[in-house]
Parts: sequence; structure tokens; C-alpha cells
Amino acid sequence: MCGIVGYTGQLSTVEVLLEGLSRLEYRGYDSAGVAVLDGDEVALRKKGGKLAVLRDSLEHAPLPDEGAGIGHTRWATHGGPTDENAHPHLGDEGKLALIHNGIIENFAALRAELEADGEVFLSETDTEAAAMLVGRAFRETGDLTAAMQRVVARLEGQFTLLAVHADQPGVVVGACHNSPLLVGYGDGEHFLGSDVSAFVKFTPRAAALDNDQIVTITATDATVTDFQGNPLEPQRFEVDWDSSAADKGGWSSFMAKEVSEGPVAIANTLRGRLTDRGVDLGELGVLDDAALSTINRIVIVACGTASYSGLVGKYAIETWSRVPVEVDLAHEFRYRDPVLDEHTLVISISQSGETMDTKMAVQHAKAQGARTLSICNTQGATIPRESEAVLYTHAGPEVAVASTKAFLAQVIGQLLFGLHLAKVRGTMSDDAIAEVVAELEELPEKLSQVLAEQETLHELAHWMSDTRSVLFLGRHVGYPVALEGALKLKEISYIHAEGFAGGELKHGPIALIEPGQVVFVVVPSPRNEPLLHSKIVSNIQEIRARGARIIAVAEAGDAAVLPYADQVLRVPLTLPMLEPVLQVVPLHIFALELATAKGLDVDQPRNLAKSVTVE
Ligand code: F6R
Repeated sequence: MCGIVGYTGQLSTVEVLLEGLSRLEYRGYDSAGVAVLDGDEVALRKKGGKLAVLRDSLEHAPLPDEGAGIGHTRWATHGGPTDENAHPHLGDEGKLALIHNGIIENFAALRAELEADGEVFLSETDTEAAAMLVGRAFRETGDLTAAMQRVVARLEGQFTLLAVHADQPGVVVGACHNSPLLVGYGDGEHFLGSDVSAFVKFTPRAAALDNDQIVTITATDATVTDFQGNPLEPQRFEVDWDSSAADKGGWSSFMAKEVSEGPVAIANTLRGRLTDRGVDLGELGVLDDAALSTINRIVIVACGTASYSGLVGKYAIETWSRVPVEVDLAHEFRYRDPVLDEHTLVISISQSGETMDTKMAVQHAKAQGARTLSICNTQGATIPRESEAVLYTHAGPEVAVASTKAFLAQVIGQLLFGLHLAKVRGTMSDDAIAEVVAELEELPEKLSQVLAEQETLHELAHWMSDTRSVLFLGRHVGYPVALEGALKLKEISYIHAEGFAGGELKHGPIALIEPGQVVFVVVPSPRNEPLLHSKIVSNIQEIRARGARIIAVAEAGDAAVLPYADQVLRVPLTLPMLEPVLQVVPLHIFALELATAKGLDVDQPRNLAKSVTVE
């Protein structure tokens, strides 16, 4: 949601801004705009619709192209996605331009106050009030940083603001409160962005601002203060991927590319964390062995796909470490006033590290005295910075809105943590840990086999492109796989899809089964879980008897499902807790194929944003 870029340096400002905005497109947006300083004026262009519309307009009527500038992709909240509501917004009689990510909750009061004082608003946004306030403060202080400092004290809600002013050429000022902002350090140039992808093409050197900080960049300097003006030195880091990792690289879609990157995502997440026979998670810092020994309960908080990875993690962590684990949707967690104390570990899982619901859950956990661990894919993101410890997944940048490889890496991160905790608590023998470790090492290769063998899904998807409803069934760790298969399908193909636990069928969902209803069934290996296997085969028989068409995701050696399945998608044998990593991928591919068969934009499904930065 909303992407923010700021630049000051020697390159073509408009090009740098457009490049940054195109890298942030994945976050989801419905209008875009840029502003650059032009002598003693601000030159502005903003358009409803995709970035291509803005580009087109800039090609026909270029803006001046030097000095400082700001660019924005907007995901509409206050007012529709029109040219007028697009950012930047102007203040100080057109000499100041400002962009904003987040929501200014007291904007109505601010707007009323400004209108009463003669200001005329051109948009329905909450942002324009901030632009006017910073413009007025600039007139009083003559300095953009001082003006920003004055105004942030008046704003409620969450926000990242960037502003330029014609009377301060070469300067961009940013401020953030409960919303991300990163600085990119170049040679003779500086960048600001809502995440590193906004500028990683130009520099890998970055720092993430903490909450309630203001940054002022010029070509040669980047200074950071708190909201009171006290100087601060943000912690810098190097981005560990280059911008080509976020290119489509010849694939038809980012999603197709990212599905294909599953084996690498797993291998990278495992790298450096496996020892000969165990797991090394020294990176957990303050959550050391002594701290982990005091934990008697774990709550996993996450949203959407990340929460389904959490359900897989629950089974593994609880089984291996014997610590009770629950999984909460992050947006339900804090509102149910959960019982938490210093013996509770709250693990947040987030690809972006910016999901507002998850961030608020972490803040709530901290306020209640719980310990916090973030499993996150994005360096420098807010949630890991809010948490006591972080286990980064190394899936690489995920651009498609629908999460695929990040899900795999999230599961792997939790498996590693589960083994580590089991070792700390002495609940698993060294041999048992070594067995899982050996199997984890095999997993990238096994997943490559899965990817190589899914060509039948193309045909199946074409055959099913008019289908109106698909059901998914699983048990144990196959249950979250069923939920994930259903979410992916509804998200990108707009087909009604539901995931169920097999045991729940007779308690209601079986009423949905009518002749021809397609049901994907996630089948555990009979060699791993004979009892569960026979139960799910019974479920298959029950729905088959009522005319359902069964597509089973089953282990390669499983002959028992053959008589009952209309189609079997084969996956190699692995250990029970690792099965989801192999089983989920055919479901991701199926969703991708079906959405493609329907001619839909698989990377940017309607109404969705990659990074959900509002509650
Ligand atoms: C579904 C999907 C979403 C995200 C959810 C959490 O494909 O991508 O359900 O998993 O919005 O996002 P993160 O992991 O960034 O917190």
C-alpha cells in the first residue's frame, strides 16, 4: 500500500523517482504522482490509474529533471483514485509538495481548522491538511526540517511524510510515525523509500528510521533526528540482494518466477543455520538459551498466508519442543485481550515486516511483558525492529501480491526455531534432530522435482476455467496447506474456494458436495502417518460417494489413493512436518494456472495490496 520515494543528487530526478515507484508497484496502488523542484516553484504531475498513465503524461509533457524530488503511489483510503486525490499535495501557495503513507486520524479537525482560516482544499484526502500545515510552518520557520518537526506533533494516526520546498532547493525532508521510511546512501546522492526496493538499484547501503524520527537529505548529507530535534545515528546495513532479483527475468509473471524460486528460497533460509547434526541460531541474541528455557507458551501472530505458515509451525514447534503453541490472526489477537506474561513468547510472521495488524499485535505483546521474536523476509522492516529478536527468512524479494516462496521460507524458519527450542529444552534426542536436519538439506532438491512434474496442472486449469467453486481438504499439517490452497485460488482467480480440516467434513461442509464439485485433498504419506492417511482416505470416499471430483496431492509411493482420485499430483516422500513445503507448491501452481487461463493479472489481483500498512 502506498509507495514513497525521495531523491536528491545528480541523476535525472524524474527517472530515479519513476524507477523507484515501479519497484514499489508490487505494494498495490491506484494512482501515482511526482513533484520536482523547478527554480522557485514546484513542478508536479499526478494521475489516477497505473504508473504507465503517469509515465505517458510525463513523456508527452516532461517535467524539469534536476534537483530534489518526491514520488508516490497511492492506495486510496480518503477519496477515490482520481488525479486530484493522487499525491503529491501542495502547500504554501504551491511552493511546497508533500506525499504521505498511512492515515492521519485527526485530519477532519485539522481540515475544518484550516478551512475556517481560509484554506481551500482541492482533494478529499487526509494528506492535503498535512501539506498545508507544513507549508504554513515553513512560512514561519523558513526551514523544512523545523516545519516538519512542528507539524508532526499535531498529527494523530500513522504516517510517513516526505516534503520538498522551492525555497530549499536540493533538500528532501521525511518524517515517520508508526510507518516505515528508509534512507539510501549513495555517492553524492541520497534516497528515501518506503522499502529498500525503492532505491536498491542505485545503492545497497541503507538505514531504517525508527519510530518518530525526521530525516533531512541533501546530495551530500543525510541527518536524522527525533521529533524533538535531537540528533541520532541510525544503524546502517547492506541490502543482501541486488535489484535484478526483483526483475521478472523472462517469466510471464512475478508469481511464476517466485514459485520457481522456492528451492532457492528454502536453501537460502537454511544456509548458515544447519550444523552437522543440529541447528545454530546464535542470531537470536537476547532470546538466548537461558531466555528460551523460561518460555512456557508460544503464540504465533500473523495474517493471511503467513498465518497458515504459522499453523504449520504450531504443529512442528509444539510436537518437537513440547511447549504449547497457539496461532492467532494478528488482528484478532490484541482485541481479545490475551493472557500474556514474560514466559510467553509471541512469534510474529510477516513477509513484508510492515503489516499493520501484525505490528500492532507485536506492540501489544511487548506492552503486556511478553517476549517477542519476528520471522521476517524484509531487512530493516518495522516488525523485526519492534521485536526483541529476528530470524530473517532469505526468500529474496517477493513482488507478486500473492505470497508463495515466502510461505515456504516462513515454514522453514519455524522448523529451524522448533528444532532449536527442542534442543534447548532437551525434548528431542540429537539423533532425532539430526534426522530432521538431514531431511531439510534434501528439501530444495525434492521441491525442484515437484516443480518439474506439474505440467498436468496447466491442462487441469484450462478444463476448470469456468468453475465457480473449489474445495480443499487436509488434516494435521495438511490442513493449513488446504487453507493456503484455497486462499491462493480465491485471491488471484476470484473463484470461491474454501479449505477444511478433513475431520470437520461431517460437521457441515459435506453439505456442499454435489456431483462434479472439485475437491483438492492434501494426503499425508501412508509411510509417515498411517492412521491419518486412512482417515483422509475415508474422507475421500465419503465425498466421492456424493459425486465429488477428487484431485489428490499425495506422496509418490501412495497407491491407496489411486482408486478414489480422479487425478493425483505426486510429491516425494519427506518427514511429516516437512510435507507442507512440498504439498503446497502444486496448489500455488494450480492457482497461477487457473488465473492465467482466465486472463487475469496474477501479480496484482484486484483490491489487494502486497503490504497492508493500515488496520
Ligand atoms: C496471500 C498474501 C497475504 C499475506 C498477508 C500477510 O497470498 O500474500 O495473505 O500473507 O497479507 O502479509 P505479510 O506476510 O507481509 O505480513
